[in-house]
Amino acid sequence: MKKIRIGIVGTGQRVCLHGGCVFRESRDKIQIVALCDINTERLENARKMYENEFGYGIETYQDYMEMLKDATLDAVYIATPNYLHAEMTIKALEIGLHVLCEKPMELSLAKCDEMIAVAEKSGKVLSFAMQMHYRHRYHKVKELIDRGEIGKVAMAWCTEYRDPFASIKDWVWDPVKSGGAIVEKNCHHYDILDMWISSRPISVYANGNIMKHHKPHGIESGIIDNAWIITDYESGARSMVGISFLANKHHYREFGVIGTEGKIFFSSNDQEIVHVVKTNGDSESYAINLSDNITNDIGGSVFNEFLSCIIEGGEPMVDGAMAKNSMLIPLAAELSIREKRIVLVNELK
Ligand SMILES: NC(=O)c1ccc[n+]([C@@H]2O[C@H](COP(=O)([O-])OP(=O)(O)OC[C@H]3O[C@@H](n4cnc5c(N)ncnc54)[C@H](O)[C@@H]3O)[C@@H](O)[C@H]2O)c1
Repeated sequence: MKKIRIGIVGTGQRVCLHGGCVFRESRDKIQIVALCDINTERLENARKMYENEFGYGIETYQDYMEMLKDATLDAVYIATPNYLHAEMTIKALEIGLHVLCEKPMELSLAKCDEMIAVAEKSGKVLSFAMQMHYRHRYHKVKELIDRGEIGKVAMAWCTEYRDPFASIKDWVWDPVKSGGAIVEKNCHHYDILDMWISSRPISVYANGNIMKHHKPHGIESGIIDNAWIITDYESGARSMVGISFLANKHHYREFGVIGTEGKIFFSSNDQEIVHVVKTNGDSESYAINLSDNITNDIGGSVFNEFLSCIIEGGEPMVDGAMAKNSMLIPLAAELSIREKRIVLVNELK
């Protein structure tokens, strides 16, 4: 089988730290041809790490356009700061490459639409690395909701208490480059809540500020470090999401959904279990079968699925439409905090 030739743009934390070398699990299907970063030190570290892992030489570039034009590639993985996602995705698609782009999709709906339109025209695969979407537990909840275990969905929530973003990622602290903390982090959570609530959000009210991280490691912060976000949906349901970057290294996440006939909930303390309690008094806890199709690794299945779509055809689970959907509430919430008012999702551009 011919190997898919891949170039990677952005050799920072995502590509070198989160779970080690990306595409590791798919090594038999790919060849990492080139790496690109404007930071020569990170680029060199990544080259050594990837050559050591994959066992062959890898070209390096500091200019992504040079890499797209000169290297012989089939696909590119874009893991650069958020504000560069549309520009780089569009250029790569136009050159005729398949693209796996990091989340969040982009910082405006107009740019998301542009990415979707160029992908459609190109006929190439465009997928987004929203790895929470590839975990069994969230799909188990969806299955329980769809088979009527808790009746009609009325409320859903997610809270995440974690440590602040790394200081080395200076772009994250600049809302013009990251879109803000809610865009950067909570798009993952809304991707999951969208799946469970299955209804279009109408209005968003968010309240957040900077309580502590004004100058993390000397970097002036333009992003909040705590917030609550309330959303109303067309179905009549509502969601509430809380984010706090004040929790040091103690990372805690909780998800839940309440319907007319019961509730489903779990937290990061529960490992791979989902609890259901019904209004009739019945309760059950489901252990998740990790040997099912959607693997439980740190993003590995995002990469596997992207390659399968290229090799065998088919649509990725997180395509442009879904990635854009996960941006609606985060973008509205950032605006709501800035302007201290309820934001209608229809206002977003
Ligand atoms: N899916 C996930 O779970 C997950 C996890 C972490 C980060 N991310 C996403 O991955 C992306 C990168 O995040 P990160 O944590 O690796 O940040 P990072 O700052 O560690 O890495 C980004 C890299 O991009 C490089 N870069 C900046 N401009 C460039 C350009 N014009 N050309 C080439 N390289 C350029 C930087 O020098 C840096 O090395 C972000 O979009 C982030 O939201 C996703």
